[in-house]
Amino acid sequence: MSIVYHEASKVFHLYNKTVSYIMMILPNGHMGQLYFGKKIHDREDFSYLLELAPRDMASYLYDNDRTFSLGHIKQEYPVYGSGDYRHPAVVVLQNDGSIYSDFVFSKYRISAGKPRLPGLPATYTESDDEAETLTIELRDTHDNLELNLMYTIFANGGIIARSASISNYGHDSVQLKTAMSLCLDLPDHDYEWMQFSGAWARERALHIRRLEYGIQAIDSMRGHSSHEQNPFIILKRPPADEFQGEVIGCSLIYSGNFLAQAEVESHGTTRILMGINPFGFSWKLNSGEQFQTPEAILVYSPNGLNDMSQMMHRLYRSRLARGYWRDRVRPILINNWEATYFDFTEEKLIQLAQKACKCGIELFVLDDGWFGKRTSSKAGLGDWIPNSERLPDGLKGLADKIENLGIKFGLWIEPEMVNADSDLFRAHPDWIYKVPGRKPCHGRYQYVLDFSRQEIVDHIFEKISLLLESANISYIKWDMNRSLTDVWSSGISAEQQGEVFHRYILGVYQLYERLTTRFPKVLFESCASGGARFDAGMLYYAPQGWISDDTDAIQRLSIQYGTSYGYPISSMGSHVSASPNHQLHRQTPLWTRANTAYFGTFGYELDLTRLSDNELSKLKIQTDFMKKYRQLIQFGRFYRLLSPFGNNVTAWMVVDENRNEALVGWYRTLNVVNGPFTRLHLQGLDESCFYDVMEFVEGSPSAVTSHYGDELMNLGLITSDASSGQYADGRRESCDFDSRLFYLKKK
Ligand code: DGJ
Repeated sequence: MSIVYHEASKVFHLYNKTVSYIMMILPNGHMGQLYFGKKIHDREDFSYLLELAPRDMASYLYDNDRTFSLGHIKQEYPVYGSGDYRHPAVVVLQNDGSIYSDFVFSKYRISAGKPRLPGLPATYTESDDEAETLTIELRDTHDNLELNLMYTIFANGGIIARSASISNYGHDSVQLKTAMSLCLDLPDHDYEWMQFSGAWARERALHIRRLEYGIQAIDSMRGHSSHEQNPFIILKRPPADEFQGEVIGCSLIYSGNFLAQAEVESHGTTRILMGINPFGFSWKLNSGEQFQTPEAILVYSPNGLNDMSQMMHRLYRSRLARGYWRDRVRPILINNWEATYFDFTEEKLIQLAQKACKCGIELFVLDDGWFGKRTSSKAGLGDWIPNSERLPDGLKGLADKIENLGIKFGLWIEPEMVNADSDLFRAHPDWIYKVPGRKPCHGRYQYVLDFSRQEIVDHIFEKISLLLESANISYIKWDMNRSLTDVWSSGISAEQQGEVFHRYILGVYQLYERLTTRFPKVLFESCASGGARFDAGMLYYAPQGWISDDTDAIQRLSIQYGTSYGYPISSMGSHVSASPNHQLHRQTPLWTRANTAYFGTFGYELDLTRLSDNELSKLKIQTDFMKKYRQLIQFGRFYRLLSPFGNNVTAWMVVDENRNEALVGWYRTLNVVNGPFTRLHLQGLDESCFYDVMEFVEGSPSAVTSHYGDELMNLGLITSDASSGQYADGRRESCDFDSRLFYLKKK
């Protein structure tokens, strides 16, 4: 990898074996974008890429010149008001009321590795040879602002990390109105835009559309990244698919209000902007202060969507997630939520844990309802003290009893929230977001604590620390069950209210940082009514997240498949739940529920005391299976093979880094009578090696067949052996919501 600056042509070229990112200092000192794409040879001068042209209605910077217009020049961090009529990356409201800035190149530095971003989650390096960072310093001398644009190129893969910081060296304060993390001007708009949208219980469904003239965008104004949209989009060339063609992934490492926008302007170029949502945002930057934007990640692949996703997976799994659990296989857990909801006694919990233990489950998670007066969603949030009626021996008593059974103990918390019916609220009614003189909205009967105020974060930190110290707690599920409303803080001046959304998420990050530092071996799982805050920001603190409250195995295929475009398998909380399923009331076979949930962190979310001995014995087979293959599943290379979006059959597979073994999941939503002959083309195998292939039927291996890697990838694996309705070996009939699991081992 290399970052070069060509002094004579004023061109910067960041490149590695996969990607080139080229920009130049424009004649007016702003930064111009020249190229982002497949790696090309370096050369002295790329300034011929600067397209200058006289155009009617353009506005020009130089006297007697009708070519240099910011209106048609591709830029790195554009401003509004001097000829560029596209949406800008930065807007600064100054004391004289002007919103025009002029950031001019001042100097640059190149450093090995990657600096951390103060107070924000970001990718990192573990040694300096993993990446190189270019910082470009620009200055606006009129109001003495300094803009630093940071670009990190990683040694491996087509990955560029970007962020910006703005420092005020003037006497007066200014108001930042927009400060995006990323601007990417592309020379054309021959792209399809892919976004991952949904709602509660159906998160991250893939939607694709052609880029068109005008603006297309996704965003969140809810105070968290949301079920509705995810801060991750993909641009792909129309013919590109999973395995070939040009693809650009853009991911924002941020959990609050965001915007991802594509603007196709009238000459057909595309401007991508990504960062904190400018709606409702402003930030007062006093003299001597600095504002740091979140980090955005750009991933380029010339080899299709799977390759782009695999780069994202590697980066986020190993250089965004951190800590003790980062590289460790995840414990198989049982969560009592769908088993009991709020209705439990200690006795019931112990019964569940005893069964769990027999099934080989490693961690028992006590979900909502163990504290304060929390016997429904109407009370107790904020009072992080065990309910002594429900847990007569306290949390420690329960945790010890569970540990004595031989499994670990984990706990649910929702630290950002409070019910009006709670001691915390009675003591501090002014700690929630509400506008003076107005009645605040509730969500699920709860209110949001003002985490922009340090004393509130400190209070919660103390309470949760005490909790974690009070018992043997190995795991925390950190939930967040409502969007923000009435966002007004008494801790800050009227002119700074536009900061509160961002300060809220900074408070959340701070609490996560302090708790994960103080309790480094506790496994944190993020959650927000399922997947309403499943984003890269959270992954920095919690290496896994509950991706959805929908535990139906078939709905989960879409959710897991959609999530896999931008996030690694090791990050996806996935559980086997009851049939009929509690969200969709669908009945699915136990093997399909497991075959779907294996491709994640794996666990259970059902009342084990209601299962038959036969079913319990199957669970034991499942946990044995997962223990054997979870290293491969959670840390192997994941390939999407057949998409659930609009199709009856879904398939995916994981292959270990050495291509020695692989696991293939195949799922069919509705049974097909007298069906066609089908073959599934596998990926990522060693072409010239022989693989033993066996099918696991409810955990038991079938007869082995052997095939070359190229056979399996080009001819495919036969998946129509039950096209008559009966599997060839007669072991069972095919059915709706059927699934199959194949294991491949190099000979
Ligand atoms: C929402 C979560 O997504 C569920 O798994 C569960 O923890 C409930 N909250 C508890 O209130």
